[in-house]
Amino acid sequence: METKDPQDLKSNKKFPLTLRLVVLFVAVVCGVYIFSICVEQIGVSTNTNVLRLGLLNQPCPPSSVDESEVPYLHYPEPETYTREECACNPVRFFCIVSMQRSGSGWFETFLNSHINVSSNGEIFSVGTRRKNVSLILKTMDKVYNLDWFTSASKNQCSAAVGFKWMLNQGLMEHHKDIVEYFETRRVSTIFLFRRNLLRRMVSVLANSYDKSAKLLNGTHKSHTHSPIEAKILGNYKPKINTTLLIPELKLTEETAKKAVAYLKNTRHIVLYYEDIVNNRSKLKDVEEFIRVPYRDLESHQVKIHTAPLWDQIQNWNEVQQALNGTPYQTFLNTN
Ligand SMILES: *[C@@H]1O[C@H](CO)[C@@H](O)[C@H](O)[C@H]1NC(C)=O
Ligand SMILES: *[C@@H]1O[C@H](CO)[C@@H](O)[C@H](O)[C@H]1NC(C)=O
Ligand SMILES: *[C@@H]1O[C@H](CO)[C@@H](O)[C@H](O)[C@H]1NC(C)=O
Ligand SMILES: *[C@@H]1O[C@H](CO)[C@@H](O)[C@H](O)[C@H]1NC(C)=O
Ligand SMILES: *[C@@H]1O[C@H](CO)[C@@H](O)[C@H](O)[C@H]1NC(C)=O
Repeated sequence: METKDPQDLKSNKKFPLTLRLVVLFVAVVCGVYIFSICVEQIGVSTNTNVLRLGLLNQPCPPSSVDESEVPYLHYPEPETYTREECACNPVRFFCIVSMQRSGSGWFETFLNSHINVSSNGEIFSVGTRRKNVSLILKTMDKVYNLDWFTSASKNQCSAAVGFKWMLNQGLMEHHKDIVEYFETRRVSTIFLFRRNLLRRMVSVLANSYDKSAKLLNGTHKSHTHSPIEAKILGNYKPKINTTLLIPELKLTEETAKKAVAYLKNTRHIVLYYEDIVNNRSKLKDVEEFIRVPYRDLESHQVKIHTAPLWDQIQNWNEVQQALNGTPYQTFLNTN
């Protein structure tokens, strides 16, 4: 008896213990199940990580664009934030390819007045970003992934993202790799040139003079926002070296042609500053080209050189003589 009792007691105790374990197990399973449902329901609207995972599993619905356009649509996933309500808005990549003093700063302010356009400025004016090709490509990856922050960034709701690139900022030098990048990543090119290269030259010389003269109360400005500032800067009349004049005009012209030839297989548009000055509807063509919804665009910049060209060049007679009878004679005519 004394030996049986403990055994009975043991088996009596054992049964409820197993039962208790089973009940506990069932309770835990139910708890986990209920908890997972709760997380699913609450998590989707509050927890961004769950949202991101959800989006990865469920790709964005196909866009209604023409099939040929599909390769141009990108869905970046920035590293530092989520695109939230715009995660499924496609983003297009563009690059404004231009030269100094060709109106690209002015042009870019128009683009950035659009709520869905981020044009991040002259990012390769900083020499360290274009020291070698891998740095250039890495920088572009960051811009096109919407991870580049400037005053122009619209971030999560950008529908078109880009920057402007001057031909002398590594673009011509590393053209092979850059062209390949543009072609594979479907970057659309917006060429912006100036028709009158003599006027451009005046602007280059005046801007370079102001870098040291600092005419506006001791500060140098490349672009102006008031008629007074524009008048002060516009008063300076450069003297043009007529020996170098034609070779320089020719070099500028040829460099632009070369750039267009390099990038001819990318989707592109060629614009001229003068055409936009004379006809703001040209900006509509640009919106159509980068496929953003049509909006009125605006800029607060004020043109610096408004005087007739003969009144902007110190040695006008010499310049006239040098260009008469050359292919560049027409640069003299326009008022
Ligand atoms: C490019 O330059 C960076 C910074 O100087 C350097 O770390 C990197 O190794 C260079 N890459 C190549 C391919 O030369
Ligand atoms: C443009 O931006 C607005 C506001 O941020 C956003 O609601 C809209 O979806 C965007 N449009 C496109 C085409 O991405
Ligand atoms: C230069 O400074 C003076 C005095 O502060 C001011 O009245 C004037 O408007 C400034 N001019 C420009 C071009 O900024
Ligand atoms: C024009 O430039 C050339 C080449 O740099 C130079 O030799 C010449 O002296 C310059 N002429 C004038 C008038 O400055
Ligand atoms: C202005 O530009 C638009 C768009 O390119 C064009 O359709 C229109 O004909 C131009 N108007 C004039 C007067 O050139």
